[in-house]
Amino acid sequence: MPADTPDLIPAPVSIERRDGFFTLTPTTEIAAAEPFQAEAELFAAEMNLPLAAPGTAPTGSIHMEEDLAPLPPGSYHMTISRYGVRISATGPAGAFHATRTLRMLLLDGPVLPAARIEDRPRFGWRGLMLDSCRHFISTDYIKLTIDRMALLKMNRLHWHLTDDQGWRLEIPSLPRLTEVGAWRDDGKGGRYGGFYTADDVRELVEYAEARQVMLVPEIEMPGHCTAALAAYPELSCTGGPFTVATDWGIFDDVLCVGGDKVLGFIEEVLDHVVDLFPSRYIHIGGDECPRTRWLDCPRCRSLVETEGLGEVDGLQSWLMWQAGQILAKRGRRAIGWDEIADGGLLPGATVQSWRGFEGAIAAVRHGHQAIVSPTSHAYFDYPLDKIDVRKVYEFEPVPEGLSAVEASRIIGGEANMWTERVPEALLDVKLYPRLLAMAERLWSPASTRDFENFRRRLLVHYPRLDKLGIGYGKEKA
Ligand code: ACM
Ligand code: ZN
Repeated sequence: MPADTPDLIPAPVSIERRDGFFTLTPTTEIAAAEPFQAEAELFAAEMNLPLAAPGTAPTGSIHMEEDLAPLPPGSYHMTISRYGVRISATGPAGAFHATRTLRMLLLDGPVLPAARIEDRPRFGWRGLMLDSCRHFISTDYIKLTIDRMALLKMNRLHWHLTDDQGWRLEIPSLPRLTEVGAWRDDGKGGRYGGFYTADDVRELVEYAEARQVMLVPEIEMPGHCTAALAAYPELSCTGGPFTVATDWGIFDDVLCVGGDKVLGFIEEVLDHVVDLFPSRYIHIGGDECPRTRWLDCPRCRSLVETEGLGEVDGLQSWLMWQAGQILAKRGRRAIGWDEIADGGLLPGATVQSWRGFEGAIAAVRHGHQAIVSPTSHAYFDYPLDKIDVRKVYEFEPVPEGLSAVEASRIIGGEANMWTERVPEALLDVKLYPRLLAMAERLWSPASTRDFENFRRRLLVHYPRLDKLGIGYGKEKA
């Protein structure tokens, strides 16, 4: 029988062991106030437990009630006693997070140590970026990932859907994007690739929403667009032809910002994207765009003249600005990699800082929001010994030297799972256990930083990960 304080990752704000235990049985009812019915239904279905009538609180049940205190979204309190489990939450996210705490503890068996838990998230944006372009990722694996993120109280799945090596989102009015752009030469006489249909996306969005995860799509521009150019070479400066890239890197052929087709193309794509994805934030890429072709392109040079952009460099911020306007007209907000700040940041944009923290610091000093995912700590494509679990755990999302107001604009962070060298079969090895460390950095209070304590809790989690069928990587830590 567990005698000690229950071990959790991410660590809650506080957890206090009380006397006794609560034992879950096949007849333990799940009961909830009206606003938490969906969370109660999902939990009951997952645990194969009966659901009590809405608004009732039978003795011995797991019961969720509303807390009207002004706490941050996602907050909850939970009392586990020998008489049952009482959850009090400020909203559905908090009620759901409480059920994840229970699910994590119940992986050890049906006997829960009595305890009082107070919990709330440090950051609102607790993300994982999955690159479905370099390697295609099945919808089944994405669902598994949503479940696992939810268990770690992560809530943003940033989905990298377009790149040089594949365009993965079907756009019915632009069929060649997936007829041509979703496939590349596999070097063995065949083709490699795949794409997601509108039905796939709707199913995943709904699955994620029920688990308090927001699916945030990324449509890359103006660089990393070779797959789109292979489909529609008229979007380029030279006219092509192009093939979907089969190797990794940064390619000179990018969207022809001065061309008369590009804005219409972006509008067409983003229109479909905002139809499919309810996320208030849409990622528009913006990283690693060479200027090589723009320098030699009469249409690009002419746009520089007519718009008074000074140099071809200005084409990038001009295009990002246009894309931001397209989104703003549809009530959405743009996120871009930190290069979007080069040449002036579009109003209301959120910066995702990856080349260190500088992009985030500049953004918050100018009143913008920022998400941090620096190569130093958050790049999960890097080898396990280069960015090990300790390194991830040392990640501090808020850089030093910011005022309190500036710091409050750091809305959170992400682990970036680029997949150049990571087919789906290797994703578990790369993501776990490092994602547990990232989850704790983004959820738990800043003061929760003792790696030895984390490591001890991690050891308790390995058998839990085994039970979940997670093929985590071997850790040196
Ligand atoms: C990036 O890693 N190019 C955002
Ligand atoms: Zn051009």
